[in-house]
This record gives sequence, C-alpha cells and structure tokens, in this order.
Amino acid sequence: MRLTSPDFLVARDVGFGYPAKGRATPPAVLAGFDLAMTEGELFCLLGPSGCGKTTVLNLLAGFLTPTGGTLTLDGRPIAGPGVDRAVVFQSDDSLFGWLRSIDNVAFGPRMAGVPRDRRNAVAREYLKLVHLDGQEDKYPGELSGGMKQRVQIARVLANDPKILLMDEPFGALDAQTRTRLQDELVDIWGKTRKTIFFITHDIAEAVLLADRIGVMTQGPAARLREIIPVTLARPRRRGSPGFGEMWERINALIEDDAATESLT
Ligand SMILES: Nc1ncnc2c1ncn2[C@@H]1O[C@H](COP(=O)(O)OP(=O)(O)O)[C@@H](O)[C@H]1O
Ligand SMILES: [Mg+2]
Repeated sequence: MRLTSPDFLVARDVGFGYPAKGRATPPAVLAGFDLAMTEGELFCLLGPSGCGKTTVLNLLAGFLTPTGGTLTLDGRPIAGPGVDRAVVFQSDDSLFGWLRSIDNVAFGPRMAGVPRDRRNAVAREYLKLVHLDGQEDKYPGELSGGMKQRVQIARVLANDPKILLMDEPFGALDAQTRTRLQDELVDIWGKTRKTIFFITHDIAEAVLLADRIGVMTQGPAARLREIIPVTLARPRRRGSPGFGEMWERINALIEDDAATESLT
C-alpha cells in the first residue's frame, strides 16, 4: 500500500492576472485560491465558463506563474512545466499526426531513453487499458474523437506522472461517447490510482467522477467557494436518487452564487 499525504497538491492563497496593456496591476482572474489534494484523489474543479478554471490548470502545469501565493506538488514548489504533471486538453490535435497510436503512446518513454521493446510493451499495455488494443497501427487521422482522447490518456499514463491535469477532456465529444469515457476514466483511475485533477462545467460529470468537487466562484478574482465530498458508492448510476440529490445540491449552490454576484 502506498503512503498517502494529505497535502499532495497544494495551492495556497494563489493569485493571478493576465498582463493588460496600460495597467501596472493586471485585473485579478484568481485571488486567494486555496486547494489541497490528497494523493490518489480524483478531484473535480467545477465552475461556469470564464471563471478561471483553465487558468488554474495552467498554473498547476507550470505554463503560467502565479502573481502571488504558492503551489507545491509532493512537497516541491511548482516552477515551470515538468514530466511529473501530465496535461490532457479538450482538443484532439495534441497527438502527433505522423505517428501511429502505439508510437504516440511510446513517445514519452522513448524521450526518456526506454529501449524499444520495453517502451512498445508499455504502450501496448496502456492502449489496452483504454480499450484500444487492435488500434496500435492507426494514425490519429484514422481515429474518432473519442478514440483520440483515449490515446491521449494512454500517452500521458505511459509517462507515469504524479498527477493528471485534465481540462474538460470530454467536452467536445458526443453525449454517448462522453458517457462511456467518463465510466472508463473511473475504471482507469480505479486500476492505476493516479491522482487526477479534472476540470468541468458539467455538474453531472463532476458528480459521476469526483471524490470531492471544488466549486469556484464566478470571478473575477475567483477562488474556491466550497468543496463538496461525493460519498456516493461506485460505480455510480446517473439515474439513482442519490445522484439526483447531489446534482440538485450543487446546482443550488451555483445558482445562489450567480444571484449573489449579480447583486453586487
Ligand atoms: N491568455 C489570456 N489573456 C488574457 N485573458 C485571458 C487569457 N486566458 C483567459 N483569460 C481570461 O481569464 C478569465 C478566465 O479564463 P479561463 O481560465 O479560460 O476560464 P474557464 O476555463 O473557467 O472558462 C476569463 O475572463 C478570460 O477571458
Ligand atoms: Mg477553460
């Protein structure tokens, strides 16, 4: 059994603003953003479009630097991008179009100097985990949107990162494919026990996936408004009474927030 630390990923009093022309102090997108994740946790960050979710992910990925506060992963400050953090975006164009699925997945291990036989074995294993065995020789252009997202997930897992940072990865898929991939992600998470930070604006997606849901304020100067543990047993059923109750509770919280913001 793995030792878990309660403070695996920590954001403390994080602030951020995109530089704006003619302004010495950029307008705050995030202010006082606090978060602590446990190793192995599946955390969903939920909030309306434009509130700052992707900005949070880019800070965690090290693509952006906070204007205030601290970010640490596994006790180490986050200072720029690193192989310990794997990012999966919504778009399916981050795969290498000229490489077969297996070579896309084996790319990270190849860069890390893993010998061919070994890295191909690893790639096959992860393609199998995402139910793409038999598709190893296909190029991204020959795959559906859902299959491409599966290759992306296999590809980042092959790098054995400490955490997966996922930004609405199923947002561009049709409803049926999205539902399937949500169930598969829970399955993959159960098998790998990877720590997952998952962004969504879809309440049902968050309720289906999360150990805990962090609901963001609307912004500007957004932060986490509340963290809600989801105690529903897995596998979760979308139509179950507990699921509906949780959905209603979170929806009420968000509507309440929207009402408060419009008054101020
Ligand atoms: N590169 C950028 N430059 C300036 N403003 C940005 C940039 N990216 C996002 N923003 C602004 O920051 C806010 C938060 O955006 P974002 O983090 O993308 O929100 P979300 O992912 O929740 O939709 C929005 O007001 C958006 O317009
Ligand atoms: Mg976004």
